[in-house]
Amino acid sequence: MNRRAFLKGTLAAGFLAAAGTPLLSSCSGVKRSDLPASEEPARGVDEESARILRYASLAPSGHNSQPWFIKVVGKGEWIIGGDPRRRLPAVDPDNRELLLSLGAFAENLSLAASAAGYDAAMEVIAKSPHDEEVVRVNLNMAAPGKYPLERLTLRRTVKNGFLSREIASEDLKVLSEPHEGRLFYYPRGTDHARCIQEGTVESYRDQTYRDDAQKELANWIRFSNGEARKHRDGLTTEGMEITGFSGWVVRQFMDQGDVMGERFRKQGLDFAAKWADEGAGWIVITSGGSSVADLIETGRRFERTALLARERNLALHPMTQVLEEERGRREIASNHGKDVIPQFVVRVGYVDHYPAPVSLRRTVASFVRT
Ligand SMILES: Cc1cc2nc3c(=O)[nH]c(=O)nc-3n(C[C@H](O)[C@H](O)[C@H](O)COP(=O)(O)O)c2cc1C
Repeated sequence: MNRRAFLKGTLAAGFLAAAGTPLLSSCSGVKRSDLPASEEPARGVDEESARILRYASLAPSGHNSQPWFIKVVGKGEWIIGGDPRRRLPAVDPDNRELLLSLGAFAENLSLAASAAGYDAAMEVIAKSPHDEEVVRVNLNMAAPGKYPLERLTLRRTVKNGFLSREIASEDLKVLSEPHEGRLFYYPRGTDHARCIQEGTVESYRDQTYRDDAQKELANWIRFSNGEARKHRDGLTTEGMEITGFSGWVVRQFMDQGDVMGERFRKQGLDFAAKWADEGAGWIVITSGGSSVADLIETGRRFERTALLARERNLALHPMTQVLEEERGRREIASNHGKDVIPQFVVRVGYVDHYPAPVSLRRTVASFVRT
């Protein structure tokens, strides 16, 4: 056995077991704050528009694939599209999550435009979930809004450190406001919460041992700092919350091939089971239909809630495998009416220390098309 293989075998054996426990705080992976503050100018958009689009791109997306592009049609006239090269066909064959992510992007765009003194009028133009051009946007001058844009820069997905304290009713009221009865909270310990927890872990197992899904995940993991800086998307060690010495080991010694191995799958599954057992319970966000417009609108609602969570010290962790795997989908369909369609399954919980956002974003220039 050569030295590299030995180190990989012995050190990485416990890499996930220590995830979230920084052993050496000085060695860290690339974080958002490590990227250059100034970017190359984007062709076809002025500085103000680039700023708005930068805020839009802080939206969450499955595997951090950032599946959006912007087509510039004219001044203040854009089309938000779904980039087919950034689809996740193995876990999202119908583009359901891609469209939810575009909805979150549209919401951020609208809030940032409003703060800059524009009303962003949006019209869904896609007829099918696979159409590339999805939402037409027209920016019209308006009185500047007062929405605090730090909410967009500070929002993040959190996985570790959830407390089991139930969500306070005033916090739940605030989180529910954007949803008009389409957000449901299942507190920890209730039958429904246990059912979601079990379904999540079972579906995670199904997905982990589905080779096409695992291969797709491997393609979006950026193990080394070099890959993270090059792509500025996907799942980095910091984003996966594998920090300190464990993060260093993973960055130095692991590669995409390891994701297909038994050890990686087993440790990922153990982690999912641990996470699913922590927190204040589950939030399920539903829609009344499955059209492109329904999914964009649901993504927008999700983002509005996600933006409100941090200042209440509430961490959100979407765990969507139950909506992606056959068994989970069958179970859900048998228990819900046709007009109550779960679109997000999100673990929720208070945290003592809210971490800074770390997931990377591509430059605006890289997703603007003229
Ligand atoms: C539609 C959708 C599905 C997601 N599903 C999962 C999931 O199953 N597990 C997970 O850990 N994160 C999930 N996420 C969170 C993304 O991984 C996260 O948004 C992305 O890595 C960027 O990180 P950030 O939210 O901290 O900016 C999902 C996000 C969206 C929008």
